[in-house]
Amino acid sequence: MADQQPIITMKGISKRFGGVTALDRVDLDAFAGEVLAIVGDNGAGKSTLIKILTGVYQPTAGTLHLDGEPLSMNSHSDAIDVGIGAVYQTLALADHLDPAANLFLGSELTRSVFGLQILDNRKMRTESERVLKERLGVTLRNMDAMTQSLSGGQRQAVAIARAVRHDGLRVLVMDEPTAALGPQETARTLKLIKIVKEQGLAVIVISHSLDDVFQISDRIHVMRRGRCVGVEKTSETDRESVLGLIVGAHQAA
Ligand SMILES: Nc1ncnc2c1ncn2[C@@H]1O[C@H](COP(=O)(O)OP(=O)(O)O)[C@@H](O)[C@H]1O
Ligand SMILES: [Mg+2]
Repeated sequence: MADQQPIITMKGISKRFGGVTALDRVDLDAFAGEVLAIVGDNGAGKSTLIKILTGVYQPTAGTLHLDGEPLSMNSHSDAIDVGIGAVYQTLALADHLDPAANLFLGSELTRSVFGLQILDNRKMRTESERVLKERLGVTLRNMDAMTQSLSGGQRQAVAIARAVRHDGLRVLVMDEPTAALGPQETARTLKLIKIVKEQGLAVIVISHSLDDVFQISDRIHVMRRGRCVGVEKTSETDRESVLGLIVGAHQAA
C-alpha cells in the first residue's frame, strides 16, 4: 500500500465548536479497495471527522486531498459530486416509501408527458433493482413494500444502494452501520461492506463493535479526545492493543 496513492488524504484537520476542540490536527489516509475502521470512545471525534470528509462540516484548520489534488467542499452535495458518499444512521430512510423511492430520494427521475415533468417510477424501479443486484448482489422480493416492512439488513442494503448508485463513487463512509442490527443482519451488512470494498472503493466505517472491526477492516484508525492516537494494520494488531489505545492505557509514541 505504501507505493499506492491514497484516494483521500486528510492532513492536520482541526475542528472547533466555540470553545470545544472536537478534532485536533488529525491525519487520515484511505486507499482504494480497503476498509478503514474508525474507532474511539463517545466524544472522541469520529462523527465530526467523517462529517468533514463528507462535506457536512468545514474544518477550522487542515487540508483534504482527493487523488493528490486539493479538495474543498461546502456541502454534502459537493462531496457526492466528487465521489464521496455516506450512509448515516441519521440520514434515515423514508419508512412509508418503497425501496426505489428511497434510492432516489431527493434526486427523483422524471419523464415528460405533454410537456409536464412527472415521476418516472418505472425507471426508478428498474434502476433500483439493477443497482441492488449488480452492485450488492441483493434481490428484494417485494419492491412494492413500504421500507418499514423490510428487515434491518434489507434496509441497510437500500441505504448502501442509495450511496453506490451514484456513478463515480470512490469513497463510501458509514457511521455505525450495524449499531441497530441483530447478529444475522449484522453478518449480512458486513458482507455488503466487503462487496463494496472489492469493487475498488475506499470504505470508511465507524464502529463500536471490535468484533465487526476485526472481521471486516484492513486498517484501524483510533481516535481519542479529538486526536488520532494510532493507525494499525488489522492483521498486525489485536483487540487488547486497540482497546488500550481507545482508553489511553498506553500512549502512542
Ligand atoms: N455541533 C456540535 N457543536 C458543539 N460541539 C460538538 C458538535 N458536534 C460534536 N461536538 C463535540 O465534539 C466532540 C466530538 O464529538 P463527535 O465527533 O460526535 O464524537 P464521536 O462521534 O466520536 O462520539 C464532543 O465533545 C462533542 O460534544
Ligand atoms: Mg458519533
